[in-house]
Amino acid sequence: MSGGVVVGGGGSTGVGNGGGGSGTEKGGRVRCSRRIWVLLGSLVLVFLTSLFLSVSLRGGVGFNYLEPPGWEESRRVKLVPSYVGAHRLSPPDAPQQKTCACPRCVGDPGVSDWFDENYDPDISPVWTRDNVQLPSDVYYWWVMLQPQFKPHSIQQVLLRLFQVIPGRSPYGSWDPGRCLRCAVVGNSGNLRGAGYGATIDGHNYIMRINLAPTVGYEEDAGSHTTHHFMYPESAKNLAANVSFVLVPFKTLDLVWITSALSTGQIRFTYAPVKQFLRVDKDKVQIFNPAFFKYIHDRWTRHHGRYPSTGMLVLFFALHVCDEVNVFGFGADSRGNWHHYWEQNRYSGEFRKTGVHDADYEAQIIQRLAKAGKITVFPGK
Ligand code: C5P
Repeated sequence: MSGGVVVGGGGSTGVGNGGGGSGTEKGGRVRCSRRIWVLLGSLVLVFLTSLFLSVSLRGGVGFNYLEPPGWEESRRVKLVPSYVGAHRLSPPDAPQQKTCACPRCVGDPGVSDWFDENYDPDISPVWTRDNVQLPSDVYYWWVMLQPQFKPHSIQQVLLRLFQVIPGRSPYGSWDPGRCLRCAVVGNSGNLRGAGYGATIDGHNYIMRINLAPTVGYEEDAGSHTTHHFMYPESAKNLAANVSFVLVPFKTLDLVWITSALSTGQIRFTYAPVKQFLRVDKDKVQIFNPAFFKYIHDRWTRHHGRYPSTGMLVLFFALHVCDEVNVFGFGADSRGNWHHYWEQNRYSGEFRKTGVHDADYEAQIIQRLAKAGKITVFPGK
């Protein structure tokens, strides 16, 4: 090998004549062997560097060679977003942890397949700073609810509104130590004479709708209210500490509530609306159109043009409460669909216009009750 190198070295220097012993020849050999060592050193260095790099690169991707088996697998699992119906990922036979401290919890999976398949805990019932942007299908569906109104820029309108109201959701997630009991009180005449007042008042949240009066109806309808759901054309002043939940049907409704809580420039939409509204600003919430459409798609299944306000409130409760009890829904024992405070001739507003499908909604209520997700107090 050295001979070869010598030959190569000699060749490369171009000196020497094939003999040995002269000073020039000796000097040439020394220089040659130095070059050999330098070359060998470089080769070793290149080899070691490439070895190091290959190990480092593998390590950068996963450090597989250092990790116990299955480590990479568990890391991949962690990348699955936790909000993908986490409770539905567990195998069907695995013991489920209770989601609340009530005897029965709305959020507990595995009680009804129908409910579990349709229930989506990830859509917020409240429209907040965190979900201003509507998915495009929701936006187009929502702006067509009252198509005669030209939409304003949602972004701008909500930005202004959230300077007046908090724009945050006050509701937490499931808590195995909590039992939040809610009464959803519809406006049916079947409340008259039913004597549910004290039962209704015994709930943590008491949710009422539109004009629903309590004064004079305490025995049957109760006297406490924590949430009152209204749209602009049905809005009335509320007592302190009651949360006004606005159900918006158009962007003008968002402009109206901003105005009604500040400057008062709006007095009319398709009907006269309150110029100023006396409600607790810090407790105003806006019903999320995405949640509205979710109810229409998954629960009322496009029966009726859109769900009744009562349905919206019922599903709102099913998404923020642990136990839901339902009062004042449906016909009375004589088949009348009037309000509990009046013999309204056109009680069928809700039933006859075709906007809502009252019969289908009644079926859903029955099915929820059968599934153990709500208890219905039938009234008189
Ligand atoms: O009539 P109003 O829409 O104000 O009533 C509130 C809700 O109560 C309705 O949207 C409907 O869901 C429910 N309701 C009912 N039966 C009635 C009257 C109202 O189920 N007779």
